[in-house]
Amino acid sequence: MKVLIVYYSMYGHINRLAEAVAEGVKKVAGAEVQLRRVPETLSDEVLQKMGALEAKKAFADVPVCTVEELGSADAILFGTPTRFGNMCGQMRQFLDATGQLWAKGALVGKVGSVFTSSATQHGGQESTILSFHITLLHHGMIVVGLPYTFQDQMRIDEVTGGSPYGSSTIAGTKGERLPSENELAAARFQGKHVTTIAAKLVKL
Ligand SMILES: Cc1cc2nc3c(=O)[nH]c(=O)nc-3n(C[C@H](O)[C@H](O)[C@H](O)COP(=O)(O)O)c2cc1C
Repeated sequence: MKVLIVYYSMYGHINRLAEAVAEGVKKVAGAEVQLRRVPETLSDEVLQKMGALEAKKAFADVPVCTVEELGSADAILFGTPTRFGNMCGQMRQFLDATGQLWAKGALVGKVGSVFTSSATQHGGQESTILSFHITLLHHGMIVVGLPYTFQDQMRIDEVTGGSPYGSSTIAGTKGERLPSENELAAARFQGKHVTTIAAKLVKL
């Protein structure tokens, strides 16, 4: 069973969550996980101005995803930073190249799930994940979130990402906050949960 984690990260927060999601996937026997980045659409000049060139080097060795790879996965977890309450343009552009898969129904019945990050606590994590789900539903995917059986999404003793829609982290306005232990646990839970459901569907 193949589980694909496809993401975009500019400063490393989504990359870190993606690694935790992969750890969760690996907890399910027989699951094979692949980490993939979507292609960059910004020039190095723009990335430099955004202070992202150096940060991106840390995960430059993660292979760039092809559209075809989506079709051969049994489950796909998508990671995107919030951009004005929506998925980032790099992810949008990648998904807008999946028309051939849509025409063939290539993703119908596969499990799809989304995780995200934002600078601020209420900066659009839920809207990013929920609006992403629209694309997954157009592809006929079975949308899976982060159930409340991951009970630590209910904690209020510390600031934390994570909602029934998916795991998430709060990066801070300068990207200074790293994913917390609770947020990483949520990402692991999501990876394992998605994979467990996909395993049941593959057996049918
Ligand atoms: C163009 C742009 C728009 C953004 N929009 C939002 C936003 O609506 N809300 C928010 O909290 N953060 C916003 N951010 C901050 C990013 O979500 C944040 O840098 C990102 O989650 C960090 O993840 P990364 O390190 O994986 O790139 C925006 C950043 C950029 C560059």
